[in-house]
Amino acid sequence: MTRIVHISDLHFGTEQPVLVTALESQIHALAPDLVAVSGDLTQRARPRELAAAAAFIGRLPQPVLTVPGNHDIPGVTPARFVDPWRGWLRHFPGGLEPEVEGPGFLAVGANSVRVGGPYLDWSRGRLGESQIARLATRLDRSGAGLRILVAHHPLLLTAAGAHRRLVGRGALALARLRQTGLDLALGGHVHLGYAGVAGGVVVAHAGSGVSSRLVGELNGFNLITGDPDVLSVEHWRWQGSAYAPDGAVGFQRGEDGWLSCGV
Ligand SMILES: [Fe+2]
Ligand SMILES: [Fe+2]
Repeated sequence: MTRIVHISDLHFGTEQPVLVTALESQIHALAPDLVAVSGDLTQRARPRELAAAAAFIGRLPQPVLTVPGNHDIPGVTPARFVDPWRGWLRHFPGGLEPEVEGPGFLAVGANSVRVGGPYLDWSRGRLGESQIARLATRLDRSGAGLRILVAHHPLLLTAAGAHRRLVGRGALALARLRQTGLDLALGGHVHLGYAGVAGGVVVAHAGSGVSSRLVGELNGFNLITGDPDVLSVEHWRWQGSAYAPDGAVGFQRGEDGWLSCGV
């Protein structure tokens, strides 16, 4: 069974120090095979925020797969358009779309952040057609075991997050990547922890790990265990003095993709 800790939306710059310390020690105690970090590591992509986030990631049990979120590039300044990823790449030399292969799993990162577009909300994310094709090639590896995609913007929304938008070309990405064996997609952005099935793929979102930027849900993270036939997503939430399990969802592989099977 592969064991993954999935954290998101740390938003260093608005972090709560007590939670940072608790999350770090809790992740070590859980001894995962992989830590997946699905973006928004900082609040404003300031150098000190990126440095604090990178230091935190460096203290976690390895391997850690980290992708950026919309908060990890500068705001509307010249730097956003000239060299948006300079700060990120200085602190995260693994790049924008890293990959980790371990015993029983293959995890690939996707950068869903866009610098801008012909719309007002530049926090929206999008995947490109050529980007999806590249991701499909990377996932299409025989003997890979559990195949995992990590991207910041949502491939699935619940009623509580219905005012947000799904990542652009998300349905295309799920359809194409399902063909190459994608089992599990991990995301953040909405600061809510939930899991379900979209396009035959298990999609899990983690709440905000340590930030004070909350939207009505406690800070938390996901503990995911499974293999290519069965998956469990356990939501852990901050209980005032420690993180503790607070509900779980189970999934099993069906003939045409993954199916929810309750708790
Ligand atoms: Fe966020
Ligand atoms: Fe975000």
